[in-house]
Amino acid sequence: MDIARTPAAPDGNPYLADAAPQPQQPAEIRRADYRPFPWLVPATRLEFALGIETTRVIATLEVEPNPSADPARSIRLNGDGLTLVDLAVDGQQRTDDTIEGNDLVIALSPGRHEIRIVTDIMPARNSQLMGLYASNGMLCTQCEAEGFRRITFFPDRPDVLSTYTVVMRGPRGQFPILLSNGNEIATGEDGDNHWAEWHDPWPKPSYLFALVAGNLVARTDRFTTMSGREVTLNVWVREGDLARTEHAMESLKRSMKWDEEAFGREYDLDLFNIVAVSDFNMGAMENKGLNVFNTKYVLADVETATDGDFDAVEGVIAHEYFHNWSGNRITCRDWFQLSLKEGFTVLRDQLFSQDMGSAPVKRIEDVRILRGVQFPEDSGPLAHSIRPDSYREISNFYTSTIYNKGAEVIRMMRTMAGEERFRRGTDTYFTRHDGEAATCEEFVAAIEDGADLDLRQFRLWYSQAGTPRVTVTQSHEGTAACLTLRQSVPATPGQPDKQPMPIPLRLALFDRDTGAHAGEQLVVLDRAEQDFRFEGVEKPPVLSINRGFSAPVTIQRTIPREDLVFLAATDDDPFARFEAMQELVTGYLVTEITGNAGDDEREGALADIAGAVDKVLADPALDDLMRGELMMLPSQSYLAEQMEVADPGRIHAARELLKADLGGLLASQLRNAYDRVAGVPFSLDSAAKGARKVKTLVLTYLAASDAELAAELAARQYHGADNMTDRQGALMVLTGLDTAERTAALIDFYNRYRGNALVIDKWFALQAGSLHPQAIEHVKALAEHSDFTLDNPNRVRALYMAFAGNPQAFHAASGEGYRMIADLILALDPRNAQTAARFVPPLGRWRRIEPGRAGLMRGELERLAASPVLSRDTAEQVMRSLG
Ligand code: BES
Ligand code: ZN
Repeated sequence: MDIARTPAAPDGNPYLADAAPQPQQPAEIRRADYRPFPWLVPATRLEFALGIETTRVIATLEVEPNPSADPARSIRLNGDGLTLVDLAVDGQQRTDDTIEGNDLVIALSPGRHEIRIVTDIMPARNSQLMGLYASNGMLCTQCEAEGFRRITFFPDRPDVLSTYTVVMRGPRGQFPILLSNGNEIATGEDGDNHWAEWHDPWPKPSYLFALVAGNLVARTDRFTTMSGREVTLNVWVREGDLARTEHAMESLKRSMKWDEEAFGREYDLDLFNIVAVSDFNMGAMENKGLNVFNTKYVLADVETATDGDFDAVEGVIAHEYFHNWSGNRITCRDWFQLSLKEGFTVLRDQLFSQDMGSAPVKRIEDVRILRGVQFPEDSGPLAHSIRPDSYREISNFYTSTIYNKGAEVIRMMRTMAGEERFRRGTDTYFTRHDGEAATCEEFVAAIEDGADLDLRQFRLWYSQAGTPRVTVTQSHEGTAACLTLRQSVPATPGQPDKQPMPIPLRLALFDRDTGAHAGEQLVVLDRAEQDFRFEGVEKPPVLSINRGFSAPVTIQRTIPREDLVFLAATDDDPFARFEAMQELVTGYLVTEITGNAGDDEREGALADIAGAVDKVLADPALDDLMRGELMMLPSQSYLAEQMEVADPGRIHAARELLKADLGGLLASQLRNAYDRVAGVPFSLDSAAKGARKVKTLVLTYLAASDAELAAELAARQYHGADNMTDRQGALMVLTGLDTAERTAALIDFYNRYRGNALVIDKWFALQAGSLHPQAIEHVKALAEHSDFTLDNPNRVRALYMAFAGNPQAFHAASGEGYRMIADLILALDPRNAQTAARFVPPLGRWRRIEPGRAGLMRGELERLAASPVLSRDTAEQVMRSLG
């Protein structure tokens, strides 16, 4: 068989679509160029002869012309790294078709055809963890976004929906469990091999295909849906991990129930499988009926998982489950619409978690992520709108903007419509587009119709990047409070000029004597400048604005410190209370960092902050979870965002000094708080969780002001802990101190949990993220540790993401931190490009950093750019970061 190849094939197997040399700047794909695929693929049959070294795939595609596309005389099937063994169309072997780059282009006459493709793939050599790969002796797949083309030739795009039948055959001893999407419809034996046939009745895009084969055991349970369907639920793990699956299973059942109640969405198969895999690029994946998870988001017990881990498991399980409707039943037309499924599903998982625990605390946590990750993205070289116009490598667009800002944009629609009308909007969306590959525009139109909202101008949120700034000016006329609100959206790459967008702001006007307000109002600022007048307000009120963080914007206002102190103590909106604390501290720190305050001013401001924290510690109306939020200082990345050009050294120093000052000023109150919460016995209820949160937070203040006392308390907390939250919290504090207790605890922790990969990841991450002045040296040593490997993404992230997120170490003035991250990228890129590319953005912040460090960061980006062998993923991020 001789299939022609353009460009000319290199030596060797002419069918091997090995990577052509990559141009430095990969080709741009544009949203405006979308065309429907000329062919439909109503049915796909996949037969796998499974082997870790080699797996043979026989794919049979039924194809027919797409009536809603321009007719074509050929079909283009995507491939990536495949060895083509045989090709037949309608039973006739084909030899005269072409391989163009990575794609297989087959000439086809109009009408229905059957295409049969035989390919060989090599799972054990798949270090990218995309397509079919081996992990701990098992085989599993990851196809989103473009991994299916690494399994067989196929129109690997989300708007080609097909019904899949999958036959898996392999040695019974090696792969006792064979799973794919949908339901198992037949099994059989032949000799040492066995096989299973699975059928998924729901048409789906190739990115939702999944297969798992290995030696796994399941926790099994059942769920009865609202219409009475009995669903079998399995959580599959390796044998020793079964005891740590209870929380995942309970989370799954809660998610299924919640989606029925909150969104009217019911599960649609008789079986739902979750599989935990220890080598996984992402957190988890929503494959139809067969979700594949990073072990990190499945396994949890009190001994090895923190409260944060428990919450993360619940949230990720919910997220992937919710995709069954927002993503699977209705999928994306193209990858520019990614936020259609991800932004919406993030909103859904956030609302779920709000309902499962403390809603205000969850809201604050989500805002903290948005501000700490998405705001910097939006103000840097990688800024893009939630529906981008172009990309080069889609893996790079699974960003905080698509996810977190995407969720905020939909949340604003919900705020404007109110819960009930929003629900009518989502009902309209789900009914109208069920079974389709839809667009963000169609989503907005459905909400518009169902919720009866005018969203014409609101659509700008989908196309404009950048975080809007809202400036507030307040005045008083007789008995009217007047607000002038101005908005501006900053320029971002490729978008120099912006238009005003509708910004829904919840606000309340407080009487400063009574501490009450006359009711919350919602105003929508939709012009560049607008005046709002509130009658019947006797004296100038204290303004509480953007309550609940109703819009993802930055508020700029001059507000007297005493008003912030007032709001921090009395606002009845918990988010606004948190916000007032943040504003108080941020104002102080920014002045400290830029060196503009006189001594009196400084003393006064510090006293106000200490007074506010004191009230937070003492206020009996607060629960400890909320108390913890109010005690937390703004992150260094958030502080850096408040300045045109940031000096990470000064930010770090000022923030540490404030911690020390507060620790000193409030020494006895903090000590009392510690003793109180240390006495709360362990349980998983929110009061006890709150106690643990306050416990470790108090230690972080004491560590800055009285290291000896902190070391003593932390060591006692560490060794006496009966749960991972307390133990990890104490170890975190100790890791930042230069004491004997530090060494002892680190050795103990390692020996206690050696062999438990997820806990050893914590051991790496705590050291890499620590406040210890020698953190860089520790990271260098850990990179040489026998437990460190570049082949496991969790381990790589534990060491190096924690390091890149440790401002003091990463931004060392010598540039050593930057060099270490660049070296990591170069070493990791050939093995796992997707993971390597995720380390570029921290270096991309150079434009907003003081000139000395900026030059060093840029230098490392240039060194990366000079590498002749960069992957598409990393090349794109490096080029964009250099700008
Ligand atoms: N669909 C994604 C998984 C994914 C991400 C596949 C990127 C391919 C590329 C999944 O639904 C997801 O969003 N997972 C998140 C966790 C979630 C809770 C936000 C993840 O993996 O980080
Ligand atoms: Zn998702």
